[in-house]
Amino acid sequence: MNFANPVSIEFGRGVLERLPDVLGPRGCVVVTTPGAVAREVLARVEQTCGSRIEAVLDDIAPNPTPKAATEAARGLSRVSADVIVALGGGSSLDTAKAIAAQRHPDLDDEWLASHLAEGAAFPEGFSPARVIAIPTTAGTGSEVTCWATLWDPKVRRKHSLAHPRLFPETALVDPELTLSLPRELTVSCALDALSHAMEAVWNKSSNPVSDALALRAIATLPRALRDVLGDPGDVVARASLQEASVLAGLASSGTRTALAHSMSYALTLSLGLPHGLACGLTLPAVLDLNGSAYPDRARLIGEALCATSLDSAVKDLYAFFAEIGVPEMLARYLPSLDPLDPLDDLDDLEGDLVVPSRAGNNLVAVGEGEGRSLLEGAVRELLAHRDGA
Ligand SMILES: [Fe+2]
Repeated sequence: MNFANPVSIEFGRGVLERLPDVLGPRGCVVVTTPGAVAREVLARVEQTCGSRIEAVLDDIAPNPTPKAATEAARGLSRVSADVIVALGGGSSLDTAKAIAAQRHPDLDDEWLASHLAEGAAFPEGFSPARVIAIPTTAGTGSEVTCWATLWDPKVRRKHSLAHPRLFPETALVDPELTLSLPRELTVSCALDALSHAMEAVWNKSSNPVSDALALRAIATLPRALRDVLGDPGDVVARASLQEASVLAGLASSGTRTALAHSMSYALTLSLGLPHGLACGLTLPAVLDLNGSAYPDRARLIGEALCATSLDSAVKDLYAFFAEIGVPEMLARYLPSLDPLDPLDDLDDLEGDLVVPSRAGNNLVAVGEGEGRSLLEGAVRELLAHRDGA
């Protein structure tokens, strides 16, 4: 098994200030979100980099579409900057990678759409713009992976743009940038990180390096998240959470994700669940499934969670989710749901839960019907915890 990751990671309070040195003499485009603007993170970057910023795209929306990424790239066609600075959560980072890909010289400006829809090949000698990733959330892991997730709600499809040259050149991981992140976004992003870590362990491509990274992330994350929720201004806890996120992202960069992510895409596309909530909510159920078939893998996760058995690890995970408010978050996206009635909000998802490119990485093979049962069981269990029920 091979593990390789080329991203140079700079970690710690204030590393944002390193951006001018990392850029060197190169000009850049900053890609970010209205949220980062409102929280004055963009202003800090502008202050730091001054005239080296040649253009700013500050309107990146959640769950970016291929069309939005192509329009963004077209809008930059007259800008000569060598580097895309991605500032924000997964949507900014993934859009930045999609823009970077389209800056390959003389690329047909319909290429991205045909690559995603019909598998058009990467151009010969693929040479995207370089990306410097500055995450302002703790969870996406996109700062250390070579893929970008793009969404097409019209045809209910999630696309992955992936190429080894799309690894960011540098990730500046500064916990101060996450201090003002709202509670639910903090929770959802942390669930994404936990999913990357667990899915690396129950993955057909797991290896000693990905295991070490993922298990450290699993062991770190629950306490770090509790501490952050107890005191959102605790920068040491924010740093622990970001550490868990980066480690989980690194683990996942070597294995890719698996069944929980597979089932999440339909939840996001059809019901609008944020990505982290969508992939996190089935983790206890998928742990139960995989752990029963592969007890050695379950033991590793159980030890990281300080649980004495698979049963207690599953139970502890549900209790942790209840403590951090997952049932209440979930219930808001399932408005017609009553735990005593059929889960009719989930009927729409039939046929979309098992995505071979992700579910196929899972140690246990699962069909669509089993996927639906797993999801239904997880939703029932979580809602039973709602409001301490
Ligand atoms: Fe994810």
